[in-house]
Amino acid sequence: MIKFILNNQSVETALPKGTTVLDFVRYHKNLKGTKIGCREGDCGACTILVGELAGEKLKYRTMTSCLMPISNADGKHIVTVEGINRDDGGLTPVQSAMVETSGTQCGFCTVGFVMSLTNFCIDDTPKTNEAAISAIDGNICRCTGYKSIERAALSLCGTAARRNGDAEIHSAIGNEIVPEYFANIKERLSEILNSRFQIANSSNRNPEPGIQNPKFLSGGTDLYVQRPEEMVYADTENLFDSAALRFINETDEFIELGASVVVTDLLESDVFNRLFPNLYKHLKLVSSTPIRNMATLAGNFVNASPIGDMTAWFLALDAEIELSDARSSTRTLPLKDFYLGYKQLAKREDEFISKIRFRKDFTHFNFEKVCKRTYLDIASVNTAISLKMSGDVIEHAHVSAGGVFATPLYLRKTSEFLKGKEISAETIAQANEIIQTEISPIPDVRGSAEYKRLLLRQLFTAHFVELFKANIQ
Ligand SMILES: Cc1cc2nc3c(=O)[nH]c(=O)nc-3n(C[C@H](O)[C@H](O)[C@H](O)COP(=O)(O)OP(=O)(O)OC[C@H]3O[C@@H](n4cnc5c(N)ncnc54)[C@H](O)[C@@H]3O)c2cc1C
Ligand code: FES
Ligand code: FES
Repeated sequence: MIKFILNNQSVETALPKGTTVLDFVRYHKNLKGTKIGCREGDCGACTILVGELAGEKLKYRTMTSCLMPISNADGKHIVTVEGINRDDGGLTPVQSAMVETSGTQCGFCTVGFVMSLTNFCIDDTPKTNEAAISAIDGNICRCTGYKSIERAALSLCGTAARRNGDAEIHSAIGNEIVPEYFANIKERLSEILNSRFQIANSSNRNPEPGIQNPKFLSGGTDLYVQRPEEMVYADTENLFDSAALRFINETDEFIELGASVVVTDLLESDVFNRLFPNLYKHLKLVSSTPIRNMATLAGNFVNASPIGDMTAWFLALDAEIELSDARSSTRTLPLKDFYLGYKQLAKREDEFISKIRFRKDFTHFNFEKVCKRTYLDIASVNTAISLKMSGDVIEHAHVSAGGVFATPLYLRKTSEFLKGKEISAETIAQANEIIQTEISPIPDVRGSAEYKRLLLRQLFTAHFVELFKANIQ
């Protein structure tokens, strides 16, 4: 039985666990405020808030309910627009801001924007103008135009900033951003999770993943786009909420991550912000806020899209993955050896990715991505590089490229060639010639093979311009 809090109501459901939260709230709870647009995670009309206990903290993130199975709602607080509306019929500050700046016309997209901005007001992000605009990067409006909606977002920075520390939810209640019942959600979720723990113990259920079903589901952002109908009844094993798969650890040599870490976890990680100074600049090129809140690293690797951004990122870190199975046996594999052919993986059906790790001894890292539009688009070509420099000499290099082969590609020869070289225009030119022998782009709607070759040449050069502006002669 799946149990969670929907707005102010505790709900239990025995519906198929693959039912989307969108269908659940609209068709089973008659909450029609949440809209259906694309059903592919692109438009944001279906955006909801998802509150989850993270240790002692209650944390809210936006998610697209059209791609979210109700199994991923288990033990959480699901908030639709009906759950933030005021009882007296008045408008919340977020709703007022949209009205006052003329941020709405037909209104179809408005609920999605309101939910994204409400989350901005109650989450941990700094209340800067940039963060306010970023909060609505997953919402599309087809009739109002974005300038007035942006003005609404910017006008909320002051209201949202009037709080601090543990009192976040209480200040948001005080500011009438969310209703009073939010004050008790933390305790109510704890009760659900405690009762769950007792049931699990009494029935000897093994809470570890990998036990029964060979088919794995994490955030659902690929599976629900590819096979929406099938997923409703699919007998999948849900890895998204497995605590054993959600961690980021630092050791002397390595960074280790659970496979269900999502892109936003990287953005919020002190360790990642320290190791990757351009983390935000790079990761905001990956999907949108609600999708980054759902998209796991393992899901990106296993989807095996030749243009997977996180795959390119971790290939360039020469990451290793740990594969586990139902018998709890594990083996480790370099990520670069995971891809055998188009969507063919060096993995048995019953194996799931449990852990990812990479050495932290690199000194430079860069990520480049070109899409048809800058944000919320998949890459035409992407590439990443990590280098360990010893003075002016490259001690080791790892280079990846996406969109130029049938699989995500670790550029073996190029990485090898760069070892021991000094950074110079000549080194870059020679490496670019080697790259051209390693790739075999497939022409598609994103460009001809020649265009993708040229793009990778430019992006590879861009790594060095970005990292060593002054040194290239
Ligand atoms: C609107 C939108 C925009 C997007 N933009 C981008 C983008 O800019 N860049 C990009 O790279 N991707 C993008 N994506 C794709 C997607 O978000 C990512 O690939 C995401 O990381 C997939 O993770 P998930 O947890 O949602 O995977 P799921 O959909 O849950 O699973 C994907 C696959 O991985 C398998 N799987 C999941 N977890 C495991 C595991 N631990 N072990 C073994 N197998 C597992 C599943 O069985 C399935 O085959 C976008 C998607 C959407 C909907
Ligand atoms: S309906 Fe478009 S993102 Fe969900
Ligand atoms: S107000 Fe009509 S789509 Fe945004």
